[in-house]
Amino acid sequence: MAAHRRQGNPEDIVELILQDHVILKQLIEIMKSEDASFREKQAAFKRFAPALVAHAKPEEQTWYMKMKSEDMKVEGLEGDIEHSLADQLCEELKRTSDRDEFMAKVKVLAELVEHHVEEEEEDMLPEFKRGTTLEERIDLGMQYLEAQQELDAQGDDDAPSERTLHP
Ligand SMILES: [Fe+2]
Ligand SMILES: [Fe+2]
Repeated sequence: MAAHRRQGNPEDIVELILQDHVILKQLIEIMKSEDASFREKQAAFKRFAPALVAHAKPEEQTWYMKMKSEDMKVEGLEGDIEHSLADQLCEELKRTSDRDEFMAKVKVLAELVEHHVEEEEEDMLPEFKRGTTLEERIDLGMQYLEAQQELDAQGDDDAPSERTLHP
């Protein structure tokens, strides 16, 4: 269904963001599922954490910066705050050895990011799209990809890899 929906320019930052959301949403389904086992959730989280960093940091550096510099300042700030809450939960989860604590936290993380992604897709991205030209969004799309490459090149623990983003 998503493939049919996507008819925009592939370099448009809005399209790049929607594309990154696909894998995040797939992993969120497992992380919040009542049926998934501890091991399944652990495996999903292991892929989710770097994929989130690979998406959220470039988003902050490009799209959110642009919103904050214009008339979507509050939305941009809201996004920053939600990212930092998710980041904090990810860091805690990496250190959690208790199974029940992991299960509780991973669900809260999944629900937080699910809500965040929904808001971006239903409110923020459409509003942003209405207020910008395709040219501006392609320019930001380039910056977004550059920021992702830079993060990837840093290669620390949280660095995204091609495999994480495009499994
Ligand atoms: Fe975001
Ligand atoms: Fe996003």
